[in-house]
Amino acid sequence: MVNTIPTARVDDSGRLTADQLNAFREAGVLVLEDFVSLEACQRLRDRAQILIDEFDPSSVRSVFSAMEQTQLGDKYFEDSGDKIRFFFEQDAFDSGGNLKQSKENSLNKMGHAMHDLDPVFDSFSRTPALAALVESLGYDDPVILQSMYIFKPPQIGGEVYCHQDSTFLYTEPESCIGFWFALEDATTENGCMHFIPGAHKEPLKELHYRDDNGKMSFKTLDPSPWPENATVAAPVEAGSMVIFDGRAPHLSSANRSDRSRHAYTLHVIDRNSHYPPENWLQRSADLPLRGFD
Ligand code: FE2
Repeated sequence: MVNTIPTARVDDSGRLTADQLNAFREAGVLVLEDFVSLEACQRLRDRAQILIDEFDPSSVRSVFSAMEQTQLGDKYFEDSGDKIRFFFEQDAFDSGGNLKQSKENSLNKMGHAMHDLDPVFDSFSRTPALAALVESLGYDDPVILQSMYIFKPPQIGGEVYCHQDSTFLYTEPESCIGFWFALEDATTENGCMHFIPGAHKEPLKELHYRDDNGKMSFKTLDPSPWPENATVAAPVEAGSMVIFDGRAPHLSSANRSDRSRHAYTLHVIDRNSHYPPENWLQRSADLPLRGFD
């Protein structure tokens, strides 16, 4: 059993070496230091701030429950697969319904199609290095299914319970893989990611799906609990990217520090795998999924 999170660097080609690929296959997670430049991180943060400035929070107050990882029955969330939408932290509002912190320090996340709808996010998401890396992971026809900008704001950034992303982005066969870019240093104080190395070899434990009445639900596939005492923190510096298997269990603690922990994530699937109509994330025909071209 692996009990550490492998860390590596790729050369300018972006491709994983055979040893790096092997380390990823064994642990289900791989940290790549300095995968993106600090300038690229700053450009994305600046662009996110512009989008936040343009967002009027009085128009919608959708709160994303990081513990439940979803907003059951929330149309604003469920229709966001092909849009750019904003979700607040659960603790963002005071008893009078006013934001306790600035708008950018009240948000849980922005999602889920910035990579297709915003030129700055598009160019961050579609670099030759990332395309080559995905190819080296064995994807012949990868498509970027979703993007999320995760704020993990100071003081109120919510805890995220242990889960597998294939629960939410299920394909047949399973093909989901996550790319998590640290836009700021992620530490054990501000809520860095934690993984259970090697546990991606266990079954998918839950499926999140739309039932016959159109309501989002969870189905338990394997009731055995995660060995949460085996979790390993993955503190990383800004510019690092974490690759993780769709079955890799991961979690993060609440952020009670005075520093935010901004991150950007992409989830990629294989275009040729079946994408069920029961998945929460659906796109209109006007915005077809794209790869890295
Ligand atoms: Fe996740």
